[in-house]
Amino acid sequence: MTKYRITKKIMLTLLVALFSASVSSCSPFNVDETTKNEKPYETETGENLIRVGFSQLGSESKWRRANSVSIKDSLKVENGFFLQFNNARQKQENQIKAIRGFISQQVNYIAFCPVTEDGWDTVLKEAKDAGIPVIIVDRQVSSDSSLYTTWIGENMRQEGENAGEGLAKVLEDRGRSHDKINIVELLGTRGSSSQIGRSIGFDTICDKHQNWVLLDREDGDFTTAKGQEIMAGFLEKYDNIDVVVCQNDDMAIGALQAMKNAGIDLYSPKKPIIISFDASRQGLELVTKGIIDVDVECNPASGPKLSEVIHELEMGNQVEKAYYMEEKVFTLLNASDYVDDRSY
Ligand code: AHR
Repeated sequence: MTKYRITKKIMLTLLVALFSASVSSCSPFNVDETTKNEKPYETETGENLIRVGFSQLGSESKWRRANSVSIKDSLKVENGFFLQFNNARQKQENQIKAIRGFISQQVNYIAFCPVTEDGWDTVLKEAKDAGIPVIIVDRQVSSDSSLYTTWIGENMRQEGENAGEGLAKVLEDRGRSHDKINIVELLGTRGSSSQIGRSIGFDTICDKHQNWVLLDREDGDFTTAKGQEIMAGFLEKYDNIDVVVCQNDDMAIGALQAMKNAGIDLYSPKKPIIISFDASRQGLELVTKGIIDVDVECNPASGPKLSEVIHELEMGNQVEKAYYMEEKVFTLLNASDYVDDRSY
């Protein structure tokens, strides 16, 4: 394991000369290409920073961008890290390529947010054979857990159940518990653990309500543009939508735009009930206005835990196999208490 100790002076020098290149980089190889220092992860006195290769799956949503900020803020030189950050732009092949790059550069740790659950076995075995610990962040992988050291992320299935229970409460408050309720769903990236978990969780609650009817569901890839496109299609196809479930706030914002374009008054009590996920600042603002009815939090601030876990491993300590982020559910009753402090 690498031992590190950095003086403030050295940290500053490194910050200016090297680190700025790495955080804005899209390529894991950029740092070595742009710096004149042959060993940017080594201080002038020969002490080592902990070299971490991080593959972010993309920047499809505000949540994702907040997650990247959290990782970069936590794995910085002041905390003993030399971070190589790669944005895979939504493609698993780019993530695999980046991880292979990290292996060939013999980083100390590899961390990544997997775009989908499946397809990681081979590259995880390669990292294991190279003796590099791997930490999975945010979404999960379907690979055998012996292939990675730990996972830090969100309980997607619980989030889906929270959304279903939130909807049941809204219907109860409106005296509609026994009405026929027509639901459409805008799903996140198909095959991602956030999509799979939220769908399973929501379906579990749906199954308990015989009067809830799932009219349609489509993959909106967690983006505003897709959310708007799919919702516009649903509105053309159905004139009896009671509930719109959007698997993130970005898609909800797109769906709301489509509803507005179709002439629906978003402030009317007759508008469809909107259930969303993430609880971004914009999402919470819409909750305070009564436009989004339930926003289930997905916590993107996994950087500090990632830093903590790596430091534990550096000290030779055992770590847990899974760490869950804390998450809340927001409605009109509590959203205004949190909206001002939301940074994303
Ligand atoms: O995996 C977390 C999900 O991915 C967030 O809900 C979404 O906004 C992001 O793109």
